[in-house]
Amino acid sequence: MHHFHYHKRELYAEEVPVARIVEEVGTPVYIYSAATLRRHFRVFREAFSGIPHLLCYSVKANSNLAVLALLAREGSGADIVSGGELYRALRAGIPPEKIVFSGVGKTEKEMEEALSAGILMFNVESLGELEALSRVARRLGRKAPLAIRVNPDVDPRTHPYISTGLKKNKFGLPEGLAFQAYLRAKEDPYLEPVGVDCHIGSQLTEISPFVEALRRLKTLYLRLREEGLPLRYLDLGGGLGIVYGEEEPPPPREYAEALLREMRDLPETTLILEPGRVIAGNAGILVTRVLYVKHHPPTEENPEGRTFVIVDAGMNDLIRPTLYQAYHRIQPIRETLEGETLVADVVGPICESGDFLARERRLPAVRPGELLAVMSAGAYGFVMSSNYNSRPRAAEVLVDGARFFVVRKRETYEDLVRLEEIPEF
Ligand code: LLP
Repeated sequence: MHHFHYHKRELYAEEVPVARIVEEVGTPVYIYSAATLRRHFRVFREAFSGIPHLLCYSVKANSNLAVLALLAREGSGADIVSGGELYRALRAGIPPEKIVFSGVGKTEKEMEEALSAGILMFNVESLGELEALSRVARRLGRKAPLAIRVNPDVDPRTHPYISTGLKKNKFGLPEGLAFQAYLRAKEDPYLEPVGVDCHIGSQLTEISPFVEALRRLKTLYLRLREEGLPLRYLDLGGGLGIVYGEEEPPPPREYAEALLREMRDLPETTLILEPGRVIAGNAGILVTRVLYVKHHPPTEENPEGRTFVIVDAGMNDLIRPTLYQAYHRIQPIRETLEGETLVADVVGPICESGDFLARERRLPAVRPGELLAVMSAGAYGFVMSSNYNSRPRAAEVLVDGARFFVVRKRETYEDLVRLEEIPEF
């Protein structure tokens, strides 16, 4: 469910015509819907209302301050993976006691910042990191609350680049080593094990891998409690998939019901979830303008020839199609009636053959100057963008009902070189 819809054949973000935003802000532009973000968060929260739980929105999915502030007001916590994300989360008003810190490569400086801020817990991913956390805690004279991230070796059946809970992935510790790490932490006056954590992957469209992972986590959790560790958090990470095209991910309610069943026999335990994409993915679109349409004549290999719709957003703006062969729906801002179509590669201006937003896609017969919306771009869109080819990054706009706000200005050429200096050779 999202609030991008056609009214009189024109695409609206909530009550605002997308074309009006473009008139003011230009293209490419990311547009987010506040109502959609709120709705997604609330649906998720209600689905888990039957048990003690904490939703820690995964900041990496979309870390714009306005998005974080909106979710903070809904009561969200944050799953962070860097000092930068900690800074953003705190700036946006997310209470530190609702922040969990994941990631395989935390530096001591980042740990220090997070510990001083008073976060809920560190999701520790290696024995080396455990030692480092202990050193940091000793230096600051405080106890570091932690969970060990377990790698449960469960196949999430998703794209290999976004699968994280398999033995061959770099994430977490296998159960045996995790157990050792807990015993080590228990003896350390500066470490306080409070939970067990895992995250098995992203864009999952089945429930069973989550249930499987939760069962394994539970077994370890109970064993550790028997050892006298006063654990109270089970963190299952994020990963619930969304509809980009034809996938049929389970709705949050079904996902929650399956997890709640597993949680029933666990007293005094808070379930932590780190949803990212499911909150932000379908709450955002990327709007781009068609610059040129060109047709390459037929070749032996390609008897039809090939049509390219060249747009002003490239892989530097949205890298998912290039990086994961991800599918994003592409829709015109003004629906045409004629029904004339073409099959084209929608490509950006970047000097790389991998710079495409869609391949061999059937589209209305677009012309230069027309606007296209790349759908489901609210998660892992802007946050993964870059300045490659010295392209200023796109503007970000948040729509709320009949109003819209530029929540990140379009970068300027000056921004591109702001931190650079020509030395006196
Ligand atoms: N927790 C941890 C520890 C994570 O690593 C992630 C995502 C999440 C939570 C949130 O997962 P979600 O609910 O969004 O699936 N750039 C890729 C996705 C990478 C996901 C990385 N970790 C993409 O565009 O598909």
